[in-house]
Amino acid sequence: MPLAIITGASRGIGAAYARELAMRGYDLLLVARDTNRLNQLAAALQKHNTNITIERQNLDLANPHAAKMLYEWATSFNRPVDLVIQNAGFGLYGNFVTMPMNKLLQMVQLHVLQITEATRLFLPDLVAQGTGAIIIVSSVAGFIPIPYMAEYAATKAYLNAFSEAVAHELRGTGVTLQVCCPGFTDTDFHHTAGHYPRHTFWPQSPEQVARVSLNALSSRRTLVTIGWQGRLAYWISRLSTKKLLLPLAARVVKPPSSYSHPPSPI
Ligand SMILES: NC(=O)c1ccc[n+]([C@@H]2O[C@H](COP(=O)([O-])OP(=O)(O)OC[C@H]3O[C@@H](n4cnc5c(N)ncnc54)[C@H](OP(=O)(O)O)[C@@H]3O)[C@@H](O)[C@H]2O)c1
Repeated sequence: MPLAIITGASRGIGAAYARELAMRGYDLLLVARDTNRLNQLAAALQKHNTNITIERQNLDLANPHAAKMLYEWATSFNRPVDLVIQNAGFGLYGNFVTMPMNKLLQMVQLHVLQITEATRLFLPDLVAQGTGAIIIVSSVAGFIPIPYMAEYAATKAYLNAFSEAVAHELRGTGVTLQVCCPGFTDTDFHHTAGHYPRHTFWPQSPEQVARVSLNALSSRRTLVTIGWQGRLAYWISRLSTKKLLLPLAARVVKPPSSYSHPPSPI
């Protein structure tokens, strides 16, 4: 049985990865903070596939020690990890100058520091095995700077650049590093971010994101977009200029003047 670890598995895209991998016969290590949801998901998956084993870990990945704890937990089962899906993330929406400082710092910790450290911890084992993959769930938001989602888009831009460069270094090792860039996906993400967009631009389902991303592993592509919407976003960001795109993005994302930051579950 291959073994996969998924962060942010309690809902949305992470839970969809878990469902898809369970169908493909993977044993699963599921990580998130919401233990009830992880337990419910594990029970549902095991009902359909009694052959797989599922372990769960309650871990706040915005904790500065989280990457090390994640790696130590994953390796405590004394078996090779075949697939590491770094999916946990959250959005922040609104004027940067009024954004809560604690959430801003948690986002850098979760999206940038934790993923960088975990990637550095897991990669040597995968390279020694000569097989396996890491999927980093980023976003089309990383293709251009986005006013009113400034930090979120910047952290995803970091993940895109980081993943593409490291993937290049990994050529010939047998290890794949994929950066998966979904567009607008129908999950709790927007509600948590306090973002109720006027335009949703053909939302994708979390199942579609997980399926396309996992299928793309066989081609070893690094940057994976989802559907025609993703390809369109990619090519617009390549062919257009920031001078044109920034005001357009600002117009689409700009919060109403009455907007205030919602209380955070984090
Ligand atoms: N939805 C979209 O439109 C969209 C588009 C592009 C990219 N993405 C990316 O896709 C990924 C998954 O988002 P989603 O849409 O599935 O959102 P979601 O439904 O809100 O799920 C987010 C997941 O991340 C986990 N998480 C958040 N903060 C965490 C923390 N500090 N420690 C551990 N786990 C944490 C949550 O689990 P707990 O709350 O249980 O901890 C949850 O399982 C994110 O990286 C997001 O940036 C989403």
